[in-house]
Amino acid sequence: MRHVVITGGNKGIGLALTQKFVEAGDSVQIIARDFSNQEGFDYQNHPLVICTPFDLTDLENLPGLVTSIAKIDVLINNAGMMEQITYEGYPDQQRNDSLAVNIIAPVKLIELLADKLKVPSEYTPRIVNNASIAGQIGHPDIWYGISKAGLINATKAFSKAFEGKIIVNAVAPSPVETDMLDNIPPHRQQAFLKNTITGRFATAEEVAESIHWLATESPEYINGICLDINNGSFPR
Ligand SMILES: NC(=O)c1ccc[n+]([C@@H]2O[C@H](COP(=O)([O-])OP(=O)(O)OC[C@H]3O[C@@H](n4cnc5c(N)ncnc54)[C@H](OP(=O)(O)O)[C@@H]3O)[C@@H](O)[C@H]2O)c1
Repeated sequence: MRHVVITGGNKGIGLALTQKFVEAGDSVQIIARDFSNQEGFDYQNHPLVICTPFDLTDLENLPGLVTSIAKIDVLINNAGMMEQITYEGYPDQQRNDSLAVNIIAPVKLIELLADKLKVPSEYTPRIVNNASIAGQIGHPDIWYGISKAGLINATKAFSKAFEGKIIVNAVAPSPVETDMLDNIPPHRQQAFLKNTITGRFATAEEVAESIHWLATESPEYINGICLDINNGSFPR
């Protein structure tokens, strides 16, 4: 049984991922703020799921949060936030929150959990960071794009620093059918759709399946990459 920690494992892509892990018999500790949603999968009452309430903007208390994590084989930095604010007059508070949730907390969690991840177990420890196409192409929410670009870079940096003892990869989805899609204005959604090969957005399950593969079965030689999940909308 793998011991998995998923930030934002209570909703959208994260919840689809929680379901995949527990269906495979792994335990999941979810870190998020709100566990009241009813999205189909009854994670709140699942015996393999632990719900840990925590606001990831609370950077000072991350060391305390980490003490609640007894055993870990897999860390999924999935939680994220996007605003509908452009660069003009971006409020400092929103900028700080965006940077905290999207880049500082994920990097701090990797730092703080590295020793626990390295404790010998039957699995090579793995980390998957949920970045975004926003970090590759630029984004109207400038701090979202900047933070996701940083997360892709941090993925490469950590994979080298851990020298294969912890496998670290990222994914970069284009728009996905979750609540976050509501923060993309309709004209921009249409532009995105036109760029995809099959004219549709990704489902949360498709992204979860990709992350799950990188967190479990992908060859260990795949290390330090960012997997594009974008239906041809950003070929490179
Ligand atoms: N949907 C897309 O179009 C898309 C595209 C590319 C990448 N992504 C990335 O995919 C990841 C998951 O997003 P999603 O699409 O599944 O959207 P979502 O349904 O809105 O989920 C966002 C998740 O982040 C958590 N979160 C946000 N702020 C938090 C905070 N301050 N503290 C703790 N947890 C927080 C939320 O939980 P609580 O609100 O309960 O705290 C929720 O679980 C994000 O990193 C996002 O940037 C999404």
